[in-house]
Amino acid sequence: MAPETPGTETQALSNLLQENRRFAPPANLAAAANVTAAAYDEAAADRLAFWERAADRLTWAKRWDTTLEWNAPFSKWFVGGQLNVAYNCVDHHVEAGNGDKVAYFWEGEPGDSRTLTYADLQCEVNKAANALTELGVGQGDRVAIYMPMIPELPISMLACARIGAIHSVVFGGFSASALQSRIEDADAKLVITADGGYRRGNPSALKPTVDEAVANTPSIQHVLVVKRTNQEIAVNERDVFWDDIVERQSDQHVAEPHDAEHPLYILYTSGTTGKPKGILHTTGGYLTQTAWTHHAVFDLKPDSDIYWCTADIGWVTGHSYIVYGPLANGATSVIYEGTPDTPHRGRFWELVQKYKITILYTAPTAIRTFMKWGDDIPAKYDMSSLRILGSVGEPINPEAYVWYREHIGHDRCPVVDTWWQTETGAIMISPLPGVTSGKPGAAMKPLPGIVADVVDDQGNSVPNGGGGFLVVKEPWPSMLRTIWGDDQRYIDTYWSRFDGMYFPGDGAKKDEDGDLWLLGRVDDVMLVSGHNISTTEVESALVSHPKVAEAAVVGATDPVTGQAIVSFVILRGTAEESDDIATDLRNHVAKTLGPIAKPRQILVVPELPKTRSGKIMRRLLRDVAENRSVGDVTTLADSTVMNLISEKLPSAKSED
Ligand code: WT7
Repeated sequence: MAPETPGTETQALSNLLQENRRFAPPANLAAAANVTAAAYDEAAADRLAFWERAADRLTWAKRWDTTLEWNAPFSKWFVGGQLNVAYNCVDHHVEAGNGDKVAYFWEGEPGDSRTLTYADLQCEVNKAANALTELGVGQGDRVAIYMPMIPELPISMLACARIGAIHSVVFGGFSASALQSRIEDADAKLVITADGGYRRGNPSALKPTVDEAVANTPSIQHVLVVKRTNQEIAVNERDVFWDDIVERQSDQHVAEPHDAEHPLYILYTSGTTGKPKGILHTTGGYLTQTAWTHHAVFDLKPDSDIYWCTADIGWVTGHSYIVYGPLANGATSVIYEGTPDTPHRGRFWELVQKYKITILYTAPTAIRTFMKWGDDIPAKYDMSSLRILGSVGEPINPEAYVWYREHIGHDRCPVVDTWWQTETGAIMISPLPGVTSGKPGAAMKPLPGIVADVVDDQGNSVPNGGGGFLVVKEPWPSMLRTIWGDDQRYIDTYWSRFDGMYFPGDGAKKDEDGDLWLLGRVDDVMLVSGHNISTTEVESALVSHPKVAEAAVVGATDPVTGQAIVSFVILRGTAEESDDIATDLRNHVAKTLGPIAKPRQILVVPELPKTRSGKIMRRLLRDVAENRSVGDVTTLADSTVMNLISEKLPSAKSED
């Protein structure tokens, strides 16, 4: 997500949080690491040659002529090259003799499971590609995919990629109107869906939402329906069942190569306001960077690792790190259909134990939830297979990082905090697990081949110890190419804040060693007595108190200080809410960060408002803090949460 309006203009962000803990890479991991410190020097010496070598890890039908054509802010990578993404992700491994290797261990929420080898995946993708062709879908056509987390989801994406159709996956939790507007914006021809999926112990229908969405979208010629739950659904004229059309196709299909810049997919990101932006990713550069980063950041050993990314494939994390990156690398992955608390709160750890997962990639929101549920739950399972832990989606509070390291990784596993966005397509800033001495809460350094910096409001690089705006200063292979159908909005949103630099909308700081810390969205920065204070630092200070599991802070208008800090906190499973908790926490923050960051108010709440991808919606909390009626809640995962929070208001403890 990027802001629609530029952030705080007047001064750089304050740097308040000090963190002295360091975690060196385990010696055995460092000794055998896929990528060593030399990669930084190699990329610095010749960035394009570095990305050429990364592209050479893929199989090209025709090698490129020009590595980068940079017509700022429009880039083309590996121009003249041709390749097929599905060939690289599937056929290549079968041809290399790895057809029997497992691509996906799939686990349904009710406990059913399926195993797909690379040879199985090849048959399924070929059949689906043939079915799409029969349905009249061809190169460049758009296909909307609205599905639960079942194997037919990656199969559908790969089938599109194979024939050069452009997929637009819409997260299965979105409403009919959200689906409709995305179908309309992309002018999609086909929707692929399912009757439903399992969520929180029950079948959850998808097909009725699709029926409602396509009632008003004449561009849709067919709706292709997978049966997952076998719940009763209406059957309309345009509907075709997967079992009827896909299953009777030949499992042979010749993958034609596509141009390196052929569009691979559109993925809509809502941003802070307004119409969703269709982020466009293309073929060669995207696959190059997702595959290389997956190899480097997770140190993937395809012959021994069992990798699990817990994201939904409906988000970019799932596109890049469940589907394209891992498959291009020949990984064995786990896909889980359901929620972490079904049928019990140990489900994730049960899966780690069952599949002997070695690499786990999840989100801070999940980690903080596990902290809240209590240490005793993961303690019941055998987690000795794990060797690397990843985090993505929000800044990870140092305390959540340390909890993750200790209670999930048993102090054996490096934690990689990976910063990137839908727009960047792949990881941009992250530790390398065999190289970096990790600092809890820091994303550390731009990966080799990525040129990122922190600048002040004039676009000047800030010195070590300074805070400001994160920018990317050189194009990168998996960057978005534009916003679908709206080049001007692409320019305005990302390239107009700082001359010649990409602005992702995040605040960041450089510590004394020059390492990078992400400080949250600049739209959320609080201006207290003339200081720009990041939400992340105050939240991290709150989470470092032993009683707090999760915190969200916002700036509310204040007659004295301009804005004052209002905090919403969730207590840990074992903590009791006591009368002096607010005073305790306010003093704790003042002690950790300095008196300037002392919250005016602390509210203990049962839940925080989050988007369906787990990001805290501070905008709604600002409404509560400023006693306004709460704004648009339609993007909330659970729209009742705001009522629970508003009820807490009268008991708000405001002091001094
Ligand atoms: C925004 C992008 C990247 C895939 C999932 C989210 C925040 C993401 C981190 C991190 C601090 C992070 C940023 C970014 N974010 N990862 N490791 N540390 N912040 O994709 O929905 O496009 O969101 O998520 O604010 O801009 P997205």
